[in-house]
Amino acid sequence: MKRVGLVGWRGMVGSVLMQRMQEENDFALIGPQFFSTSNAGGDAPAYGGGTLADAFDIARLGEMDVIITCQGGDYTAEVYPKLRAAGWAGHWIDAASTLRMSDESVIILDPVNRDIIDARLAAGGKTWIGGNCTVSLMLMGLGGLFRAGLVEWMSVMTYQAASGAGAQNMRELLNQMGALHACVAAELADPASAILDIDAKVSAELRSSDFPVAQFGVPLAGSLIPWIDKQLDNGQSREEWKAQAETNKILGSESSPLPVDGMCVRVGSMRCHSQALTIKLAQDVSIAEVETLIREANDWVRLIPNERDVSMRELSPAAVNGKLEVPVGRVRKLNMGPEYLGAFTCGDQLLWGAAEPLRRMLRIVLE
Ligand code: HSE
Repeated sequence: MKRVGLVGWRGMVGSVLMQRMQEENDFALIGPQFFSTSNAGGDAPAYGGGTLADAFDIARLGEMDVIITCQGGDYTAEVYPKLRAAGWAGHWIDAASTLRMSDESVIILDPVNRDIIDARLAAGGKTWIGGNCTVSLMLMGLGGLFRAGLVEWMSVMTYQAASGAGAQNMRELLNQMGALHACVAAELADPASAILDIDAKVSAELRSSDFPVAQFGVPLAGSLIPWIDKQLDNGQSREEWKAQAETNKILGSESSPLPVDGMCVRVGSMRCHSQALTIKLAQDVSIAEVETLIREANDWVRLIPNERDVSMRELSPAAVNGKLEVPVGRVRKLNMGPEYLGAFTCGDQLLWGAAEPLRRMLRIVLE
């Protein structure tokens, strides 16, 4: 049995990973060793057993055949180079972005790029990194069009959930919602109260110095944030930069990259990222053909007919939260011409956007 080290299993992405590994019975296939950055010597979780090892102990880590980490980028930056320098030749499977663009890494999304994963495995590859959540979710939804060579370029407008910023941000979003409700609870209870008075109070609360913004820096509930991640010199946010860079790395098209760009926006959903897409098709193909390519790309994508009721019910964070399915809908030709396609997709950013590709990569290295 392969010895598998698990690091960062207690955080939000790590917890979702542990949940999925238990659901899929992955622990039956491995000899797990849980590591901790703060509690070495403590008890490992019951489903894995044993004692926690020190996550900074290079020799102990070096005994593992596989290491899966959700501990974050700082941990990767500190530990990975030391491990490799010590001669460790095991498989490193990582949720953090630190190593994503390095030549030794493959960005893993096996329903989309299993061919690239297999080729790198055969060539001795050992470094497997989960992709940015918006990119992974977009490719889970639209991968069929890329595979068919139909995408000339894509513009992506995102509606990203609080969870992408972290667990504390999800809590803050709810605290913001609570504060907004509380400031007008009396008026809401009175059907005769004036909506513009309610709105004025909500506005004042949003702008008040007491409004809880320690995590986001600004209000998200009742508002939105049109910037995610760092500012780059070219005017893009780092989140926007990742769209083209990672899409092309996942697809293996880095030498002649497909243009992918757009605006990334944080909205008040919990853990589902949504994306509105404008796709310039390489040729005019029928909607029926487009729908077939989308529908047949993998087992998780679900085509939603471009109809009002079903789109409202099934193509939303409220419907998709906590599920592995990736619905794609609003598929229609745009006024710009027959080669311009619109689509909308939504997916759980902690599942396909983070944890699921990692546990599936573990399964692949165990094959
Ligand atoms: N960068 C993403 C976000 C999260 O902020 O929503 C994970 O890729």
